Amino acid sequence: MTAMPHLKNALIVATMSAVVSLAHAEEKHKFGKAAMTGEQTYKAVCVTCHGEGLAGAPKAGNRRAWAPLIAEGYNDLVGSALTGVRMMPPKGGAPELYDIEVARAVVYMVSLAGGQFPEPTEANLKAARLDGEKRHAARLKTAAASRR
Ligand code: HEC
Repeated sequence: MTAMPHLKNALIVATMSAVVSLAHAEEKHKFGKAAMTGEQTYKAVCVTCHGEGLAGAPKAGNRRAWAPLIAEGYNDLVGSALTGVRMMPPKGGAPELYDIEVARAVVYMVSLAGGQFPEPTEANLKAARLDGEKRHAARLKTAAASRR
């Protein structure tokens, strides 16, 4: 891969993240402090990229794109959604989201693609976040080593 498309993608994601945060600020006003459902979270934040597959995001409802991801399991997907992976910013670029809202949105998108994940609980959320943080730490280590 050349550097240019990569840079373009990064710019798109940065711009979209800003837009997402603004959109979400309005949503938060509407929903108060109560945690949103998966569908509400999806419509407030995730749809920006996952609606049309922006920057390589797996498109919501696309079974072929989601099948291999669903196979990776709850911890992998929810962990990545919480801590970020490649062009996917942590919490989709909306840090004000509760962990449970992000997890519910993952469960919702998985269901749109014909899969079924368990509803988030305090215990499985904790495990998923730990999993994501471990993988994130490993990526930082690899990146640092490649610059030595
Ligand atoms: C700014 C754009 C953007 C937003 C907003 C966004 N995503 Fe993503 N998402 C991506 C991209 C890009 C990928 C593909 C990452 C990759 O595999 O390279 C991705 C991948 C994912 C994956 C698969 C992770 C894996 O393990 O491969 C999940 C799950 C996910 N997003 C959930 C969410 C949820 C939930 C939200 C809303 C809270 C959200 N995303 C909002 C861009 C976005």
